[in-house]
Amino acid sequence: MSESLNLPIRPRRNRRTPALRGLVRETVLHPEDFIYPLFIQEGDRDEAILSMPGCSRWSLAGLVGEVGAARAVGVKAVVLFPKIDDSLKTPGAEECANPDGLVPRAIRAIKAAFPEVAVITDVALDPYNSDGHDGLVSTDPSGDPRILNDETIAVLCRQALSHAAAGADMVSPSDMMDGRVGAIRSALDAAGHEQVGILSYTAKYASAYYGPFRGALDSAPKAGDKMTYQMDPANAREALREMEIDIAEGADMIMVKPAGPYLDIIRRLRDSCDLPMAAYQVSGEYLMIKSAARDGWIDETKVMMESLLGIKRAGADMILTYFAKEASRVLLERDARAPSH
Ligand code: PBG
Repeated sequence: MSESLNLPIRPRRNRRTPALRGLVRETVLHPEDFIYPLFIQEGDRDEAILSMPGCSRWSLAGLVGEVGAARAVGVKAVVLFPKIDDSLKTPGAEECANPDGLVPRAIRAIKAAFPEVAVITDVALDPYNSDGHDGLVSTDPSGDPRILNDETIAVLCRQALSHAAAGADMVSPSDMMDGRVGAIRSALDAAGHEQVGILSYTAKYASAYYGPFRGALDSAPKAGDKMTYQMDPANAREALREMEIDIAEGADMIMVKPAGPYLDIIRRLRDSCDLPMAAYQVSGEYLMIKSAARDGWIDETKVMMESLLGIKRAGADMILTYFAKEASRVLLERDARAPSH
């Protein structure tokens, strides 16, 4: 033992040169780790989103262009979020299952241009629901909104089926209703979509970090908050319970959201299951980096890469991030300068 020989232990030896650091590097990011969330809207205008600098609500043509730009730097998976016209929002959120709705048309447009890109869709009612909640709402005599669980699941199943029929590779329930993974799995299988996967938002916290996203889609709840279905940010053991349920119900992949403030949850779930796990670096996390960098307080590229590395090091196999394209470009440029770093 070196201690008994009284020699100093020098961890810095392994950090002395780039080659040595490359040998001992434990976590490496790849463009294939990223899932790129994209916003879509009707019409032929692409519109910059003020609350999320660098992001736009894309027309279908703009969407295909952006998927191509991301594909060119190595991103191979996208997830879609629609902004639905107010005129189509109803208490029953019927538009969510329209086979010719915005999302099914977007899936078909991407698949026609880039069949190899994995298309993932969000399953939840908030963009379609005039109440702005992820589930159907029945208003209590007190005036408080009550989110109906089982009634919502029936609608989510129809929504998932419309995405599968349009060619989605995976559906991703972000609603946090109890029992929705199993119900969606059964509905998909019964309709012959046994190859369509489920990426479940397993531990989705009731987070203030979603603020810029709700602004982008005009999807904030009209009354009340999401605390009765999304998880309490104070709880960690409960995430393990949600994970066991999702696994039992047939999820193919699980997710923790948000990512940066919940690295302990990512690690805990990683250590107690073998399923592939995603983490979602959400709009507020993105915006904080963007706005601090815009004011010159931090180095955007370095903080972007460090934030993503931290999420992967904590145990995520893949990361949903608005930085997907930019980060992939950085990784490619780095490889071009010094092949494999
Ligand atoms: C809604 C949904 C939300 C996000 C993804 N799906 C918002 C919410 O739950 O209120 C947030 C994503 C982000 O903030 O980047 N089903």
